[in-house]
Amino acid sequence: MDAGIRFDFGNCLTAAVGEHGIDPAWLEALAPAVRKGIDRVNQTRGQGMTGWYELPYEREQVEKILASAREKEGRFDDVVVLGIGGSALGTIALRTALLHPFHNLLPAKQRGGLPRLHVLDNIDPDIMNTFFEDVIDLRRTLFIVISKSGSTAETMSQFLCAKELLEGCLGADKVREHLVAITDKSKGVLRPIADKENLESYVIEDGVGGRFSVLSPVGLLPAALTGMDIDALLAGAAAMDGRCKDGDLWKNPAAMFAAIHYLADTKRAARISVMMPYASSLKDVADWYCQLWAESLGKRKRRDGKEIFVGGTPVKALGVTDQHSQVQLYTEGPFDKVITLLKVGAFAKSMQIPKLYQDVKALAYLGGQTFNTLIEAERVGTELALTEAGRMNLCIELPEISAHAIGELFFALEVATAIGGELYDIDAFDQPGVEAGKIATYALMGCKGYEEKAREIAARPARDKRYIL
Ligand code: PA5
Repeated sequence: MDAGIRFDFGNCLTAAVGEHGIDPAWLEALAPAVRKGIDRVNQTRGQGMTGWYELPYEREQVEKILASAREKEGRFDDVVVLGIGGSALGTIALRTALLHPFHNLLPAKQRGGLPRLHVLDNIDPDIMNTFFEDVIDLRRTLFIVISKSGSTAETMSQFLCAKELLEGCLGADKVREHLVAITDKSKGVLRPIADKENLESYVIEDGVGGRFSVLSPVGLLPAALTGMDIDALLAGAAAMDGRCKDGDLWKNPAAMFAAIHYLADTKRAARISVMMPYASSLKDVADWYCQLWAESLGKRKRRDGKEIFVGGTPVKALGVTDQHSQVQLYTEGPFDKVITLLKVGAFAKSMQIPKLYQDVKALAYLGGQTFNTLIEAERVGTELALTEAGRMNLCIELPEISAHAIGELFFALEVATAIGGELYDIDAFDQPGVEAGKIATYALMGCKGYEEKAREIAARPARDKRYIL
C-alpha cells in the first residue's frame, strides 16, 4: 500500500502568486462555513443523494461482483459497457489508469487471458455500426448495460441493438449469458426487463448519482472483470474518507480544494478549473473530474430557489502534451484559472534516453537521463512558469498509479465537489439542465408521454435565414 496522496496548495496563495492569488485571511474567514459544510455532510452522509459516501464499505455487491468475475474467467474476449455520462466516465478513467496502456491492442496471452474493455459512451452511427460489425465476436462478448434512470435514450438504444444482435447470433435462450444490467432497484424500464429476463443485475442505490457511482457496481464490475484490484480501490477511498471527515480546513484536503476554488471564483473571478495530469494514464481521470465538477456545481438556483447561476468551468489538459498547446494561454492569458497538476511519484516503468550525439549541445544533456526525470522536470518547469506568471496552481501527488491511489483521488474529488455544493448552497447532486435535454430528445424521437413537449418544439419560430450562411 502507498503512503497516501499529497496535496500542495501553496502556489494558490498570494505569497506565491501575488495579487492574483488567495489571501490566507480569506481562508481563515471561510473556515467556519467550511466546517459547517463538513459537519452537515458528515451528519447527512448516506442519506438522500449522499449514499455514495458509504460505497467504500459496502461489501454485499462487491462479493457478488468478485464471484461473477471468477465465474466468467476465460469466457469472454470483450466486455462492452453500454452507458453514458456517469455510467461510463468512471470506467473509462479506471481503464486508462489501471490497465496496461495498450490493453485492448494486446493479444489475449499478453492480456493474461483478460477480456478487452470497451465503453460505448456515444451513439455516433459510424462507431456503432463498425463496432458491432468489425470489432467484436458476439459469441465471446459480454455486454454490461448501465443506466441509473434505466431509460436514457442513448444507452437503451444501444441495449436494443446488442439484444437483437445477440438473439440473432446465439438464439434467445443464450442471450442472458451475455448481458448484465446495472440500474436502479425500481425506477426505469431496465429493472423490470432485467428481472423478467432473469439477467444478472446489480443495483445502483438511491443515494448514488451517476457521476458519484464509480465505486458502485457501475465502475467495479467492469474493473473486476478486467482484473483490476477493486478491494484496493475501495480501501483507497476509505483511507481518503478518513482524511476528508475532518472539520478543520487546514487538515482536510477535499475541503481545501473546494475552498480554494470557491475563493478563486468569488474573490478573483477565476472560474476555470484545469486538471492537468503529468501521466497519460491519468488523462481520463481528468475527464471524469470535468463531468463531476461541471454537472454538480454548474447550477442556476441556490437551495432556497434564488437564481445565482454559479459554477466553474472544468478543463482537462495533459502534461506534457498540452505544454505545446494550452500552456501559453495558461501563463499569459486571463487570470481566470486554477490549474491542478497531477504528479506521479514513481512510474511503474523507467526508460533511459540513449547517449547519442554527445558533441551536440542541444542533445548531450538528454543522454543518460530517463523519461521519468524528463517528465518531472517538465512538470516542475510548468509549475514554476505558472507561479512566476502569477497563476494559481496546485499539485496533487500520487505516490504511484495504483488502485489504492486512484480510489483516494476519486473520493477526495467527490468530497471536494460535495463541499463545493455546501459553499455555494446548491444541490450538487441533481442535474436539471441535463434532464431538459433528455426530455426534448424523447419528444423529438416520438416517445409516448412527451407529446406536449413535441408540440412546443414544433411551434418554435423557424430559423432566421439571414444567419444561415
Ligand atoms: O451524473 C449523472 O447523473 C449523469 O451524467 C448520468 O450518469 C447520465 O445522464 C446517464 O444517466 P443514466 O445513468 O440514468 O443513464
